[in-house]
Amino acid sequence: MFNNRVKINELLQRGETGHQVTVMGWVRSFRNNQFIALNDGSTNNNIQIVATLGNFDDALLKRITIGASLKAAGELVPSVGKGQKVEIMAASIEILGDCDAEKYPLQPKKHSLEFLREIAHLRFRTNTFGAVFRVRHALAFAVHQFFNNRGFIYLHTPIITASDAEGAGETFRVTTLPFEGPPRNEDGSVNFKEDFFGRSTNLTVSGQLEGELAAMAFSDIYTFGPTFRAENSNTARHLAEFWMIEPEMAFYDLEDNMNLAEEFIRYIIQYVIDNNATDLEFLSQRLAEEEKSKPQAERSEMSLTEKLQFVVGNQFERLTYTEAIEILKESNHNKKKKFQYPVDRWGIDLQSEHERYLVEKHFKKPVILSNYPKEIKAFYMRQNADGKTVAAMDILAPGIGEIVGGSQREERLDLLEARMKEMNIPSHELWWYLETRKFGTVPHAGFGLGFERMVQFVTGMTNIRDVIAFPRTPGSAEF
Ligand code: 4AD
Ligand code: MG
Repeated sequence: MFNNRVKINELLQRGETGHQVTVMGWVRSFRNNQFIALNDGSTNNNIQIVATLGNFDDALLKRITIGASLKAAGELVPSVGKGQKVEIMAASIEILGDCDAEKYPLQPKKHSLEFLREIAHLRFRTNTFGAVFRVRHALAFAVHQFFNNRGFIYLHTPIITASDAEGAGETFRVTTLPFEGPPRNEDGSVNFKEDFFGRSTNLTVSGQLEGELAAMAFSDIYTFGPTFRAENSNTARHLAEFWMIEPEMAFYDLEDNMNLAEEFIRYIIQYVIDNNATDLEFLSQRLAEEEKSKPQAERSEMSLTEKLQFVVGNQFERLTYTEAIEILKESNHNKKKKFQYPVDRWGIDLQSEHERYLVEKHFKKPVILSNYPKEIKAFYMRQNADGKTVAAMDILAPGIGEIVGGSQREERLDLLEARMKEMNIPSHELWWYLETRKFGTVPHAGFGLGFERMVQFVTGMTNIRDVIAFPRTPGSAEF
């Protein structure tokens, strides 16, 4: 058997000395031709391997370079040196893969995040990305645990759909038709009847509509999958391909929905606090270091770990869109014309500068805004009795802005059909969606959490491109 190794994290956790162990990993550093720092990705902590002088050939020692992979076996002993409790006294070292130190892009120095994005195939080997992707994994695991504990069914909704759930027209087309001379209708338009699916199709922007169908049988479901948006937003919080978690619950109203979303966010953060302490500590220090280059006024008042503790320990602030507009309108910030988009009337769509003012300056904690004007929200949201607003809710997080979007759904067929007509949503294409309102309709609600924005919030990474392995953004699809 080749693999009788123990992972470095387990080895360090156990710390039990006096027996033979085998480790494998990549060399992070090699000091004095004697001390190897080895990492295998199970933790940011390296294991020190001591290659006692005189015990190993020069030819072998030359091949122990940064980035090389190797297998080392020997006794785990208490370390005499500083910086580690235990180390391995190497009895054997076998190079698995050489690494040309001259050509290896990851040199033993601080690299910028921008540079590391260009070598996304190697950046997993840095401490920052090691921590980020272990935290990302833990969050994903906690998502499933949270819903499973509550009896939700994990539903896999389709990636290819024929609908634009959000009605925003930001879809990527899926087609096998030729670009040159596609089949045409008499009026000159492309004849999608000839296309693979016999109709025009696109990558999904949301699994919600399909999710609602299943909630009308299982009561509680959730989706967790990739979603695609062809919005040309080159910002630090937008991806063309991102992962979204969308629970959908029958017999829920807007308040139930807010309660679940808040409980959910707290739960997954608590999971990371409990299970990824080393990674969070590292990321917290990294962020503090990064913030030193900012002017005092822009630095956060809390460290990353303090912020996360604060979020799990405190209720989110809840207010209506109308109340938020009043706060923004009356703010000195607005009066001094410091918003790029002035807040002058009820009905405007909130820009991220407004959202961030509310969470970062005014409330200094996550905020749930509800009951938005119907004009700025999707067709499926439940219409309120005032005739002006819908039972929508967005959760805004400090440093991120909108992290969750959701609503109670319009379960009344006549109102839903009327709204679709007003908004030019083709109801014949969504006949299946409308049928749930004909056959045992129930009050129901759901929301979508942008997974990468959540990972950003928990890791403190400022750019969304640094929390997904291989980001897809306008003009960029490398790797
Ligand atoms: O607010 P959105 O568009 O809501 C929906 O898609 C609903 N169908 C959700 C539901 O009710 N089931 O998107 C939900 C969340 C946003 O709050 C944001 O966190 C994230 O998805 N999101 C993005 N994340 C990264 N890049 C983008 N381009 C994103 N667009 C939305
Ligand atoms: Mg939204």
